[in-house]
Amino acid sequence: MVILCVDGSGHAANVDPARGHGHLLTRAYLPADFDQQVFDELWTTWEEPLRARAAAAGVDERRRMAMDRYGLTPHPDDPSRSLQYVVDGEGRWTMSCLACHQGQVRGRVVPGVPNSNYALETLTEEVRLVKVRQRKRFGHMDLGSLLLPLGTTAGTTNAVIFGVALMRHRDADLNVVQRPPRFDLLHHDMDAPAWWHYRKRRSLYADGFAAKGHRMLMQFLLVKENGPEQFAAWEDEFRDIEAWIAALEPPPWEGAIERSLAARGADVFAAHCADCHGTYGPGGSYPERVVPIDEVGTDRIRLDALSARDRGDLNATWFGHHGADARGLEDRAAADGYVAPPLDGVWASAPYFHNGSVPTLWHVLHPDARPMVWRRTPTGYDAARVGLEVEELADLPAENLTTARRRQYFDTRKPGKSAAGHDFPAALTEDEKTAVLEYLKTL
Ligand code: HEC
Ligand code: HEC
Repeated sequence: MVILCVDGSGHAANVDPARGHGHLLTRAYLPADFDQQVFDELWTTWEEPLRARAAAAGVDERRRMAMDRYGLTPHPDDPSRSLQYVVDGEGRWTMSCLACHQGQVRGRVVPGVPNSNYALETLTEEVRLVKVRQRKRFGHMDLGSLLLPLGTTAGTTNAVIFGVALMRHRDADLNVVQRPPRFDLLHHDMDAPAWWHYRKRRSLYADGFAAKGHRMLMQFLLVKENGPEQFAAWEDEFRDIEAWIAALEPPPWEGAIERSLAARGADVFAAHCADCHGTYGPGGSYPERVVPIDEVGTDRIRLDALSARDRGDLNATWFGHHGADARGLEDRAAADGYVAPPLDGVWASAPYFHNGSVPTLWHVLHPDARPMVWRRTPTGYDAARVGLEVEELADLPAENLTTARRRQYFDTRKPGKSAAGHDFPAALTEDEKTAVLEYLKTL
């Protein structure tokens, strides 16, 4: 399908969503992260008994084990490769947008569902160990992770701060400029949002400050190897990628739905939730409301991590057509809260809230019952509570955990990881909560 569209700069272009999907799967926009030889030796860095199991396994089985460990899913055309990395003819693996933005639900890939298993920091650390042994050069991720945390809990990343740190060294036209690094960065891990919301949003990100457009999607390419000419040269490919993202549909709930219960839930939702989250079905509307932090009460570090200046500066660069794309969003620079996100396909995008701190919709509806510490099973789905199948704990296990294992536990007491807030469901009776839970499956 080819669509003629006019973007913010008045540029008319032929865009093609299918081609965009192809770019995501095949184009390496960054320098390679590691090669096949490194990937195939990663198991040698693992703790026992996993290492012994890998040693006894064949090469295909070992690759599968490696993908499980780092939260990758096999490529449908070639299961020895991962969907989240582009592999070139010489076996070099390069991270793509899909690393964070393509995960699975119940072990099945659903287009646009965030990758809530991705263990970027563990992967990077173990890659570095193997590279030292194989006397290979460090790449930008290997070095970057020495300067800043990449993601302290599996399934979430410090992606927002990567962007802030990289923008520090660019001017508004994306020329590389020498500036001392920033020392005021507030590191925090984010859960990537579902891509099928893109079409409904007028702005991007949890606080809704960023102008929407194909250029804004290119921030992830800000390594020093990519200069302003390179960004311009890739623009058309990102028009296609944007079109693919904007064409994604939320996945329908896969189980049974109790219709009369869901209908009651729809009424409760209309009375208690729709003001912020909008209405669904034919004629539905989405208000994209920014809710002040004191009212929503969820973790505030994401909000504090960006200054009004950081927000305004980003929109004023090439990424926002030097301010043109952000018309109407000026008040968002001084953002004081989070956008109430659309809830289409919400059953599939667990965990919840911008920091991914709440494992199921039942826990969203029961603020007092949210676990202090939780760990998901690798691909388990909790159909009753609607979300991740988890083990709930009052504290981290007493045994000495390796760093890789510790990152599998979501500890809500850590900075940026609070599961508090969004107490709005407290106004509902238990029956009303059960009905709303059923209704949420239908969105
Ligand atoms: C390292 C993980 C990571 C990678 C790689 C990544 N993203 Fe994201 N992306 C995120 C996170 C986290 C957010 C949420 C940021 C926020 O809300 O502040 C996000 C937000 C977005 C959004 C906004 C969605 C919304 O509803 O607000 C879009 C669109 C997007 N990314 C597209 C891309 C594209 C295109 C690429 C590749 C060029 C990419 N991302 C690469 C982690 C990543
Ligand atoms: C006053 C506005 C407001 C009301 C009322 C409200 N919400 Fe929310 N909701 C928000 C905001 C803001 C967020 C994002 C919080 C964050 O990410 O930190 C949110 C997040 C959520 C999420 C998580 C979405 C995701 O993808 O992570 C769910 C589910 C949700 N709300 C359901 C409900 C339900 C059900 C009701 C009614 C009982 C409701 N909300 C009432 C503002 C509201």
